[in-house]
Amino acid sequence: MARPEVRITHAEEFSAAHRLHAPQLSDAENKALYGPCNTVHGHNYRVEVTVTGPVDPVTGMVMNLTELMRIMREEIWDHVDHQHLNETVPFLKGILPTAENLAIVFWQRVHAQRERLGSARLFRVRVVESRDNFVDYFGDLR
Ligand code: NI
Repeated sequence: MARPEVRITHAEEFSAAHRLHAPQLSDAENKALYGPCNTVHGHNYRVEVTVTGPVDPVTGMVMNLTELMRIMREEIWDHVDHQHLNETVPFLKGILPTAENLAIVFWQRVHAQRERLGSARLFRVRVVESRDNFVDYFGDLR
């Protein structure tokens, strides 16, 4: 029988400014679509990265959450905390910084470090933008 697979999560919080404005739409359309989010404003974001894998019989862990924390800080937090997501983050250049797009980009950055996940694999990236609004990305083809 396969070893039990468990999902484990680390979360990081950051503060950042952004503005939702689609360049393909007119100013009026942007205003109607995004409302107050069309102006520059800020959020206290929470990012949760969940990995899944078998529990190691020796360590009792799927992976060391400290290593997942390091990956998230190096790949995400260090670049976005107290930044303007539309303007000052090189890896977000040209990307409309909705929570959806942030989740996709954050996934790609953690996935690029997948060798550091050991026998675990990336399962979900959640971006919580406000108390009542959050998005989940599970990678492609799920
Ligand atoms: Ni916003």
